[in-house]
Amino acid sequence: MAAFITASHTILTDQQIIGRWQQEPAPLLPLLHAFHNRDGYLSEAALHLIAQALRIPLADLYGTVTFYHHFAREQGGQQTPRVCTGPVCCLRGGHALIAALQAQGATAMPCAGRCDEPIPVLIGNRYLVGQPDGTLVEAPTPLPVPNPGSIEECVFADIRQPGRATLAGYRASGGYTGLTRAMTQMTPMDVIDHIRDSKLAGRGGAGFPTGVKWKAVAEAVGQPKSIVCNADEGEPGCFKDRAVLDYDPFAVIEGMTIAAYATGATRGFIYLRYEYPHTLQTLETALQEAYAAGLLGRQILGQDFHFDLYVRRGAGAYICGEEGSLLNSLEGKHPFPRNRPPFPVTHGFENLPTAVNNVETLASVPQILRHEPAWYHALGLGDHVGTKVISLSGDVKRPGNYEVPFGLPLKTLLYEWAGGPLPGRIFQAVTMAGISGGFLAGEALETATIDEPSIRSKGSMLGAAGMIVFDDSRDMVAAAHNAMEFFAHESCGKCFPCRIGTQRLTERLNGAGPTDLTSWLAEVNDLSQTMKAVSACGLGVAAPLVVESLVRFFPEQVKQHVTGDSCCVIG
Ligand SMILES: Cc1cc2nc3c(=O)[nH]c(=O)nc-3n(C[C@H](O)[C@H](O)[C@H](O)COP(=O)(O)O)c2cc1C
Ligand code: SF4
Repeated sequence: MAAFITASHTILTDQQIIGRWQQEPAPLLPLLHAFHNRDGYLSEAALHLIAQALRIPLADLYGTVTFYHHFAREQGGQQTPRVCTGPVCCLRGGHALIAALQAQGATAMPCAGRCDEPIPVLIGNRYLVGQPDGTLVEAPTPLPVPNPGSIEECVFADIRQPGRATLAGYRASGGYTGLTRAMTQMTPMDVIDHIRDSKLAGRGGAGFPTGVKWKAVAEAVGQPKSIVCNADEGEPGCFKDRAVLDYDPFAVIEGMTIAAYATGATRGFIYLRYEYPHTLQTLETALQEAYAAGLLGRQILGQDFHFDLYVRRGAGAYICGEEGSLLNSLEGKHPFPRNRPPFPVTHGFENLPTAVNNVETLASVPQILRHEPAWYHALGLGDHVGTKVISLSGDVKRPGNYEVPFGLPLKTLLYEWAGGPLPGRIFQAVTMAGISGGFLAGEALETATIDEPSIRSKGSMLGAAGMIVFDDSRDMVAAAHNAMEFFAHESCGKCFPCRIGTQRLTERLNGAGPTDLTSWLAEVNDLSQTMKAVSACGLGVAAPLVVESLVRFFPEQVKQHVTGDSCCVIG
């Protein structure tokens, strides 16, 4: 049976911790977390021990550990409050909360993936919520997934069923019928054809066809093959994967098991972002249940099919959501994105064939296996296929995760499903792809439909489909500055156009640079074009969309910012 990250390692000695994890696949992150949790920080001694045990040069290990945001290097550091300063929490007073908690050494953390809830604060592995005046309380039960009514769903079809996060509850509402059908009535290639025919495409942002990816892994040479669930969800404004994992963990586990059966993979990893400690517990419990029921491990459903599944907790780094970076992180290397080609389907985890898929993609799979591909096609509107979960937050009456049919008018989601703007306000702008798609505003909010071609025709992208709403009370230059500051903070630094370009754009959104508009625009355009042309990964290519859309939709606010003295701190 695979081992799990346990909640506490307080009674384990150094050698017990090393012995516990050394023989596991992808041991670096769990080893670091084990010492971090036991000691409340990562001591010099712990790093020496880990470097020795895993044969990682100490200098490399230092470089890797300090790359992540959440590993404390000072005694007691793990217990200092980490306050979310993502775009929505800034609107709610995240910076004021940090100031109020100054005596406790509070520091900022990037978006913690709870944009539909009060400001999240992490203290050790405790997740609390705060008010700008410094009040902290235990986190409330997460909001239930909204159900807008009569539209048929896929990912959320059964998520509201009672007890769905337990194996019994999951099975009672149809869970594991997809895997059973696959393993008893279909060959692995039948399963791949079924998923390909459904036209399911990746929901992590890039939209690559899932069946094509699985076929490439199935046909690639090399064993063992792996399935990796990307649960890093670091994009500001995205919190859908957390909802799926919190309420429906077995859907992801079953989806991964089906993927393993289809591709011939024998091991899997769920790479979960650090900021979801409750979700980690939910997953550990679910995995234990699945192992105990013979749904993971050896001879699944009594057949000659084996699949071991491990959870690996990240440590805070947005770039680890990029698949090459994620794989390097799993392997214990510095989490830079990898050059492509080769792609993970042939050269993934440990240079072996690997399917990396998003949580939502994998959670869709069991439902699609329970139906025929045509069922999935018909969920979309018009010519559009399937559904997408949208994380909606910001200045809107009913924020939350909404599963929408592709092709739904954006204004239907904003006004009818989510209740429209707050009293006395009107919508000014909505971000796309979290913040990576920049802003949509004006007429685009009226005419866009929720599908990639429509959103792209407006100069943006749907991506992982986080949407943050800004009403007419907001300073859009300040919102753009907040977004660009995030990209500058999270740029891994591997290539200079992104490393330097995100910094220069942040400065230009914060008062630096030319004070005549023409020169300012020329400089910003030059930076943006260079970043888009030569950045090595999606972060550097997407970041300029923020400033481009700002200039396109809000020329007056830009003019005032450049030629006047507008302030750039929101919240
Ligand atoms: C900067 C960056 C961050 C990303 N973050 C995530 C993420 O948090 N979750 C995710 O599933 N995909 C993320 N992706 C996309 C992944 O690289 C990859 O395309 C995806 O996990 C593949 O799964 P899918 O085909 O099911 O979408 C990110 C990409 C980039 C460039
Ligand atoms: S584009 Fe940015 S995040 Fe991506 S590899 Fe280059 S420096 Fe790193």
